[in-house]
Amino acid sequence: MTTTFPEGFLWGGATAANQFEGGYNEGGKGLSIQDVMPQGGMSPSTEGPTADNLKLIGIDFYHRYQEDIALFAEMGFKVFRLSIAWSRIFPKGDEETPNEEGLAFYDRVFDELAKYNIEPLVTISHYETPLHLAREYNGWTSRELIGFYERYCRTLFERYGNRVKYWLTFNEINSVLHLPFMSGGIETPKSELTEADLYQAVHHELVASARATRLAHELMPDAQVGCMILAMPTYPLTPDPADVVSAMNALHMNYAFGDIHCRGEYPGYLLRYFRDNGIELDITAQDREDLKNTVDFVSFSYYMSICETADPTKGTRGKGNILGGVANPTLEASEWGWQIDPQGLRVVLNDYWDRWQKPLFIVENGLGAMDELVDLDGTKTVEDDYRISYLNDHLVQAREAVADGVELMGYTTWGCIDMVSASTAQMSKRYGFIYVDRNDDGSGTLERYRKKSFDWYRGVIASNGARLK
Ligand code: BG6
Repeated sequence: MTTTFPEGFLWGGATAANQFEGGYNEGGKGLSIQDVMPQGGMSPSTEGPTADNLKLIGIDFYHRYQEDIALFAEMGFKVFRLSIAWSRIFPKGDEETPNEEGLAFYDRVFDELAKYNIEPLVTISHYETPLHLAREYNGWTSRELIGFYERYCRTLFERYGNRVKYWLTFNEINSVLHLPFMSGGIETPKSELTEADLYQAVHHELVASARATRLAHELMPDAQVGCMILAMPTYPLTPDPADVVSAMNALHMNYAFGDIHCRGEYPGYLLRYFRDNGIELDITAQDREDLKNTVDFVSFSYYMSICETADPTKGTRGKGNILGGVANPTLEASEWGWQIDPQGLRVVLNDYWDRWQKPLFIVENGLGAMDELVDLDGTKTVEDDYRISYLNDHLVQAREAVADGVELMGYTTWGCIDMVSASTAQMSKRYGFIYVDRNDDGSGTLERYRKKSFDWYRGVIASNGARLK
């Protein structure tokens, strides 16, 4: 018997405001940290916006949302993941009242999605903290951000609660430890931050996430709130038990975020890590109460897996999505060195389901690649068979996980339309089903073209996955 995807499975695509919206200074929007990050997540920021920052215009969804949503509808999307730019709603982040023009923009977007029966899946904070909160408060190192975030959430829930059912609190919350500025709006250079500083900032986000979950449930009884984790299955490099323990330790450092979101308290292994490393956090009695507001589902991004070893002389530290690790000698990598491991997706789905018994949602998965626009009988397109095979192979493994008994709510491919890369700020690292004519030097018409994968994905959705090979 072939198990297929469940009835009502949420097929779609995912984006983030800072990477695709553009309109960085329109409609009363304030600056976000991304407006001063022309080189991407790993590089230093600039004083103010500079012309070389592709994100200022992005792919201009701000003005082209109707055209783009029509294309998503043509593929048959059931769900569309987008983030709300916090600095569109609260330009500085610490104001008492929101910016009406910013709110009205998302009204238009949600109304447009509703026309096509596409459910919005909203990330409340996706690597786009208002710049003022970074510069004046040092981002999430400050406890004050919990209150600002809560006010922002209340504003969103009251305004959009009648149209948005699925909410994610923080994109890849575990990445704050690795990219403090991009993920946590923390201005202090990473080299000057202690581990205690980083965990304290994460703690503030965890409390804010739990408070947002409580508020969502109060204000929107039908809403479902998820956490969002950067998933990274970690294999022992060899069968040496010491390597197995190294892999376990690395996994723990990632599980912690889901454990706290799903169980409502810090796990023992993390408390031990704090003790062993002299890390003392300011965790109040109220924080502990707040954390008990656990999430309804767990969402995650999945691009690759890594290995770990106890022997620092073995293996090579590979490139990859934010979290480091040792390269797996059995796997191929993308043009950007991210190792491709479809079976890792089945592993992670089973692992998370066994651990938390909460519905899961794959909210990012995809292949960043150089695409070539070609002319086929007068139609411009990209013959991206490599992307089709990447997505097919991952979806086959997701289907295996469903057969294993995993409760899976949906799947949104990362970058359903080409946009600016988070790590490298390139346009040429493309993930989309839709090609956008914009180049790394900022040139291009911003015209949209359907790639070969566009029709392929339409067929996958229409057959609820039966078309996968
Ligand atoms: C995830 C982020 O880590 O990876 C996205 O949530 C990002 O914002 C995606 O775009 C792909 O990474 P990149 O660096 O190739 O854009």
